[in-house]
Amino acid sequence: MKKILVTGGLGYIGSHTVVELQNEGFEVVIIDNLSNSSIEVLDGITAIPNNQPLFIQDDLKNKNSIQDLFKKHPDIVGVIHFAASKAVGESVKKPLEYYHNNIASLIYLLEELEANNVRNFIFSSSCTVYGDADSMPITENTPYKPADSPYGNTKQMGEEILKFTTNATQIEAISLRYFNPIGAHVTAEIGELPIGVPQNLVPFITQTAAGIRDQLSVFGSDYKTHDGTAIRDYIHVVDLAKAHVVALQRLLRQGNKSNYEIFNIGTGKGNSVLDVIKAFEKVANQKLNYKLVARRPGDVTEYCADTSLANLELGWKAKMTLEEALDSAWKWQQKLIAKN
Ligand code: UFG
Repeated sequence: MKKILVTGGLGYIGSHTVVELQNEGFEVVIIDNLSNSSIEVLDGITAIPNNQPLFIQDDLKNKNSIQDLFKKHPDIVGVIHFAASKAVGESVKKPLEYYHNNIASLIYLLEELEANNVRNFIFSSSCTVYGDADSMPITENTPYKPADSPYGNTKQMGEEILKFTTNATQIEAISLRYFNPIGAHVTAEIGELPIGVPQNLVPFITQTAAGIRDQLSVFGSDYKTHDGTAIRDYIHVVDLAKAHVVALQRLLRQGNKSNYEIFNIGTGKGNSVLDVIKAFEKVANQKLNYKLVARRPGDVTEYCADTSLANLELGWKAKMTLEEALDSAWKWQQKLIAKN
């Protein structure tokens, strides 16, 4: 069994990826500092058949810990790097914390890969690197716009660090630029666990439907879209998790075409906020309490992925529908309520 290190493996996308890796026969070591995740996620992962990852609670900013980890596990053949701070608004208020968390840990990790002759690295990037793109759908060749937030800037910087590092070392990397991940595992054993008031649309919808929040605010109804609300490319988190597994397999079989590759990971289909609300009302069979309010600062009108490169090169395509994603998110929310 090939051993893979997953940083941030108890987070939202990380935990779903751990499950898919183990389903494909990989052995997984997770490192997570639990800063934005819960140890209960490990119980959720292990409740899914055949999933028994090894868990190390530690922080990637402790260089010694990463050195020890690679000493203890000299058979690690690849790393999937999720661990990072990810709240756009918070990053504006705490830029140095974001640069330190997201950049220092990436550098320490790459130094250990280089020192231990580990080749294969998958980086968690984001469509946020494109900024307010001029045309849709967005291809990987769309140039960066200046970042709106330190968070977005750390993703741009992370990609640049990888471009130059893969040129100069044995490391080969793939960056996956995620669009908007939503939904939960079909077993409802793992899902999104927002801390405090959710900033993202789907957890806010499910918490409103569950009665935890009174009302959803729809941010902006004067965008130039079919119904005035902003459009995003919502992708089921399990489809996204599977993209990591195929990207890793591409590196392991040396099927990559250059030392550093980048792929958009989305569905290629845009949905407005009102489209999402309507689809949710259908799957949950209930009306959602919402109101139209002013735009949220920093939001763009539309993000939609051109995924043809990932379809062609990775042989990967998002399979699940918006309704399936919302249905899984709703089941997960109901399970959380039943547990607490
Ligand atoms: N929205 C609402 N009400 C809410 C929450 C969100 O109307 O309570 C709207 C937003 O205005 C936006 C859409 O729903 O139009 C999606 O918003 P999310 O917050 O769910 O997602 P974003 O597209 O803003 O953010 C996502 C990721 C970020 C990433 C960003 C790239 O969560 O990590 O895409 O811009 F940086």
